[in-house]
Amino acid sequence: MNAPRTFAIKSFGCQMNVYDGERMAELLGAEGMTPAAAGADADVVVLNTCHIREKAAEKAYSEVGRLRREDGSRPVIALAGCVAQAEGAEAKRRSKAIDLVVGPQAYHRLPQLLREVEAGGRPVDTDLPPLDKFAALPRRRRAGVSAFLSVQEGCDKFCTYCVVPYTRGAEVSRPLADLLDEAQQLVDGGTRELTLLGQNVNAWADGRETLATLIRRLAALPGLERVRYTTSHPINMADDLIAAHAEVPQLMPYLHLPVQAGSDRILKAMNRHHTASDYLAVIAKVRAANPAIALSGDFIVGFPGETDEDFDATLNLVREIGYAAAFSFKYSARPGTPAATMDGQVPEAIKDERLQRLQALLAEQSRAFNHSKVGATTRILIDRVGRKPGQMIGKSPWLQSVFVETDAGIGDMVDVRMTEALPNSLGGVLCTA
Ligand code: 5AD
Ligand code: SF4
Repeated sequence: MNAPRTFAIKSFGCQMNVYDGERMAELLGAEGMTPAAAGADADVVVLNTCHIREKAAEKAYSEVGRLRREDGSRPVIALAGCVAQAEGAEAKRRSKAIDLVVGPQAYHRLPQLLREVEAGGRPVDTDLPPLDKFAALPRRRRAGVSAFLSVQEGCDKFCTYCVVPYTRGAEVSRPLADLLDEAQQLVDGGTRELTLLGQNVNAWADGRETLATLIRRLAALPGLERVRYTTSHPINMADDLIAAHAEVPQLMPYLHLPVQAGSDRILKAMNRHHTASDYLAVIAKVRAANPAIALSGDFIVGFPGETDEDFDATLNLVREIGYAAAFSFKYSARPGTPAATMDGQVPEAIKDERLQRLQALLAEQSRAFNHSKVGATTRILIDRVGRKPGQMIGKSPWLQSVFVETDAGIGDMVDVRMTEALPNSLGGVLCTA
């Protein structure tokens, strides 16, 4: 076999996987490889998988099966991401087509693993060395207007439903100096908005520095207009971070703070370390600091033992908060997690019915939120070209997509008066000075 020249990376799941996918692309680029036009034509295909819910492993294996070319040949296939971590060497037994398996903390060794494949090997690397990969990755060059920056990885919270502590390892924070350096590289490459990523991003710490102080340092970088962060845990929502929402104009008025459920009994069985009223109290403080903040959350319905009363408590909490956006899921038993073997697994039909009711309520709230902005004037960061001639699409501070006719280009910020609320976006007109 000739040394591979082209690659394709397919990322599934969360924003951390998107970030990892970009870093793998930069890494292979630094090896002299180029992105392939079409996935199956690539010499190497990396499947950057997610294991958080339903049938993730099965999906990954069927993707592998689909990578056969018309002439019967196939690319070198690298199984990466959280399924790779969870399955390890088992993946090679389940699919003969997989050439290498690399976990989310080991992908900096991808070039070396590809060389082992060339030499006839089928390597598996699912070590979880904290932070090693960052030092081994190339510098950031071409960056999007809006870019991700991984600041914290892993999880020590062990919610009983969740695979993350097993697939991403222990909670670790990257050092402040490294983050300021990577942020500067991104800003130099054209980034105007940074989204700080971590499975528990608000637990980020470096000595006495907290996420709030990191945000203040980043906000001071000339050229960086906006900072966001996700995903946070309610118990790490510290007062200094809440204060930053009042005091740092670059910190966008948007908070994704998953609560998962509204019943204290279920929250306890989930090992969430907070009650519904703890969560409401945090939200009250955040809203007192910045009344304009938009809230978003994650919800799980049908956790083992969830009764109708428990589910009603979730609906009531949602009514009390009023979310601008939200993600809601049916509970899915993940092999190896404590909840998978708990009594009281909820039948699928009940999960379906509860999810529908919750999603109807959340959709209504997000419609109401979008409608509440009609007539308001706000600044958007243009990040895409629209479909109609002269149309551009930007993001509002509240993460809404806003369509506007303008000569401004990608990366520009313009003032827009929002004139109509569409199902998943807003339409607006340019404000003239
Ligand atoms: N089943 C359903 N949803 C889950 N999540 C995490 N694990 C599971 C699971 N086993 C959801 C949580 C989390 C989001 C990223 O995915 O709501 O916040
Ligand atoms: Fe999963 Fe809980 Fe960790 Fe979030 S905090 S990743 S839900 S274990």
